[in-house]
Amino acid sequence: MRVLVTGGAGYIGSHTLVHLLRADHQVLVYDNFSNSSPEALARVRQISNRDLASREGDLRDASRIEDAFARFRPDAVIHFAGLKAVGDSHGQPLEYYAQNVAGSITLLQTMARHGCARVVFSSSATVYGEPDYLPFDETHPLRPQSPYGRSKLMIETIIRDWVAAHSGARAILLRYFNPVGAHASGRIGEDPRDIPNNLMPYIAQVAIGRRAELAVHGNDYPTSDGTGERDYIHVEDLARAHLAALDALNRIAGCEAINVGTGQSTSVLEMRAAFERSSGRPIPYRIGPRRPGDVARMCADVRKAASLMGWQAELGLEEMCLSTWAWQSANPGGYGE
Ligand code: NAD
Ligand code: UFG
Repeated sequence: MRVLVTGGAGYIGSHTLVHLLRADHQVLVYDNFSNSSPEALARVRQISNRDLASREGDLRDASRIEDAFARFRPDAVIHFAGLKAVGDSHGQPLEYYAQNVAGSITLLQTMARHGCARVVFSSSATVYGEPDYLPFDETHPLRPQSPYGRSKLMIETIIRDWVAAHSGARAILLRYFNPVGAHASGRIGEDPRDIPNNLMPYIAQVAIGRRAELAVHGNDYPTSDGTGERDYIHVEDLARAHLAALDALNRIAGCEAINVGTGQSTSVLEMRAAFERSSGRPIPYRIGPRRPGDVARMCADVRKAASLMGWQAELGLEEMCLSTWAWQSANPGGYGE
């Protein structure tokens, strides 16, 4: 299949590319490299021993996307591109709506003009907001608490309406829980540009000595040890979920939202301890205040992913930590070094 991958140079995109290429799909990456490096694509080519095309461009640049579609003629799109920092989105909401929402509209308009009727979209568990019950199933009410989360829900709604209006159009909205880990080779991984907001890259930078200690955001939650619990999903499992979704588009009618997680939750202190074991490095920490907007616990009901896509997570905490450490220790400065 000919697959256009927006945001393919990013963290989740780059891991997915390796699986797409190995499955003999033809790939065009469309990315403005605002949060990634062309070096990631060079390494994807090395790991998979296959070539891929890439085009530098912004989601909002209608004529550039038009040109990419006219030349590449994709059968399907995997749409990763967008801004993703929850905290940052409170300070610059219009940037999030312009890039994520308006950019997605431009993409869908171009797809419609070219008769490209299949899309897999990167949504997020953040669309659920504060849980009424756990695990979250896909029918749980949607109450995102940030401009970022609201941009994801808006795009979900727009894709649903687009599918309803175009006969033959099909979409899968993958609601990722907490992606972590890296390719086992240590050649590609998550490369945050500033101080990491997320737990796993922060822990990895403490382990390598770039940060002094981990600040644990609160230990008074109603969880097993008082620290926040999340459903961490290995990025390699998540990458496979995109191939399962492309395949499932042959069988579903219309548009489906599907959780991608493991169904298990892990606390901050459990993750810290697991990383110490895998890296053999100490991870000093101190308990700080709660981070505004955080929920105590999140985890996915993963039954729909199994029944509709035949997919389930296979990798556990140890693989998540070992692969993150392989990436971090081989690339202490990310792709920049
Ligand atoms: P990432 O920032 O590493 O990758 C996003 C890619 O999109 C980058 O290569 C970036 O350069 C590109 N991009 C951003 N804005 C663009 C624009 N306007 N035009 C063209 N390219 C643009 O992020 P990621 O972690 O790989 O996430 C991929 C997708 O998954 C995002 O949509 C994100 O919101 C979603 N998601 C991520 C997480 C997570 O924790 N990583 C969780 C849930 C959902
Ligand atoms: N945490 C710390 N210290 C840190 C960073 C995080 O204690 O330095 C804690 C948080 O308080 C939370 C847990 O680690 O309890 C996980 O936090 P992350 O920031 O790694 O992840 P979040 O669950 O807050 O959010 C992530 C992505 C969102 C996405 C969501 C989906 O950042 O974009 O997962 O579940 F929407």
